[in-house]
Amino acid sequence: MDRKWDIVVYGVTGYTGSRITKYLVENNSPSGLRLAVAGRSLKKVEASLQTVLDASSGRWKKEDIGIMVATSDSQESINTMVFQTRVIIAAVGPYAIHGTPVVDACVRHGTDYVDVTGEVWWIRQIIDRYHDAARKSQVVVVPACGFDSVPSDLTAYLAARACSSPAVSVNVSVLSAVGGVSRGTLDSIMNFSEYPLSGQLDLVRNPFYLNPQGGLTGKDKPFPFPLLFFSWDLGRWQIPNIMALANAPVVRRTNALLGHSLGRYVYSETMSVPNLFAALIALSAMFWMTLLLGFPPTRWFFRRYLAPAPGTAYFATKDGLHVKIAAVATDVSGKKSKVTFDGPGDPGYSETPKYVAECALALVFQRSELPGVKQFGGGILTPASTFGDVLVKRLNDAGTKITVQ
Ligand SMILES: NC(=O)c1ccc[n+]([C@@H]2O[C@H](COP(=O)([O-])OP(=O)(O)OC[C@H]3O[C@@H](n4cnc5c(N)ncnc54)[C@H](OP(=O)(O)O)[C@@H]3O)[C@@H](O)[C@H]2O)c1
Repeated sequence: MDRKWDIVVYGVTGYTGSRITKYLVENNSPSGLRLAVAGRSLKKVEASLQTVLDASSGRWKKEDIGIMVATSDSQESINTMVFQTRVIIAAVGPYAIHGTPVVDACVRHGTDYVDVTGEVWWIRQIIDRYHDAARKSQVVVVPACGFDSVPSDLTAYLAARACSSPAVSVNVSVLSAVGGVSRGTLDSIMNFSEYPLSGQLDLVRNPFYLNPQGGLTGKDKPFPFPLLFFSWDLGRWQIPNIMALANAPVVRRTNALLGHSLGRYVYSETMSVPNLFAALIALSAMFWMTLLLGFPPTRWFFRRYLAPAPGTAYFATKDGLHVKIAAVATDVSGKKSKVTFDGPGDPGYSETPKYVAECALALVFQRSELPGVKQFGGGILTPASTFGDVLVKRLNDAGTKITVQ
């Protein structure tokens, strides 16, 4: 495939897109990577790129990087952008509003695609519309390559694989996470609240929401029950992780795409809390946040008066940001395998740019080695099924420590 660019970051002007670009610029040389950025306003794209370059080491000059104007409102502009590159990193959300034209163009023009969506309801739509076509044309489309859902997907996969006999259960728990929340992320969550209620219930009730049609269903529950329990494996109290709504269907799709070769395991995702008091605080925070964002008048109030401005984030400090995750798989004989995942930065805005950028780089430089390319050729895939050990190594080399114990 002869294309002008290796990677285009679409949405460079956003909070996340600018950080993805910074990661790529800081970790690659202009001679090693042909990079371009895109957005809907030329002036804003140029200004964002300049800000990124000013904040990073001076190896790249502005003229080393391509600049394109594309807007989700014009399929033609998206097609032109997509046709010039081997891989697109899409950072324009909410994806349910802006994402489909980009996937459409990628599937038509033979361009691989990664993004950082957590909008599972939109992933279902693109699976239904594009999976078969992408597979036929051998285009790799991998949504959810950010904090949603790389840590859950990779650790669950590695823990199940480390078992010496088929896994019967896998639990992924967030041991601790400190990070910011951007306006773009809140907009994506609020967009789900505006989705028809029947669609919302479908997702909440169906743990196998993203499985291939006719794929296995089983004993999984939408949320772990009881709502509070002590994990002897982790030595900590567990409560439901609200992010399981985004991550668990991706993990189950990975297992289904792999033909349940690691076991027909029940998957659960929880959050560790240090004591019962912390559990109550966290559960009530989840309850109030759901109410606040769930109802039109409170959502309007939140959007108008409380949400951070577009392009900014809450709690975007620099100190102490990190994420620690553990996955425990139990096999048929009761033996346990554990995988830990330690990210040293803000989960959403320092780790996420790294994860999605490394996925894109793997598509550029190691495409033929990728397990998903070898097994499926293409399709709407998942991070673990596509990148497997290639991504584990890339992330370990980039400072996120993933350890199979
Ligand atoms: N999974 C994760 O862990 C994770 C982490 C971070 C972010 N995200 C997701 O990433 C997405 C972006 O978040 P963010 O915080 O970066 O948002 P943001 O700062 O608001 O940026 C949004 C970007 O979309 C662009 N945009 C909006 N409408 C457009 C259109 N019609 N055509 C072309 N571009 C358009 C904006 O361009 P302008 O600057 O011109 O307005 C901007 O570049 C969200 O969906 C969020 O949920 C996920």
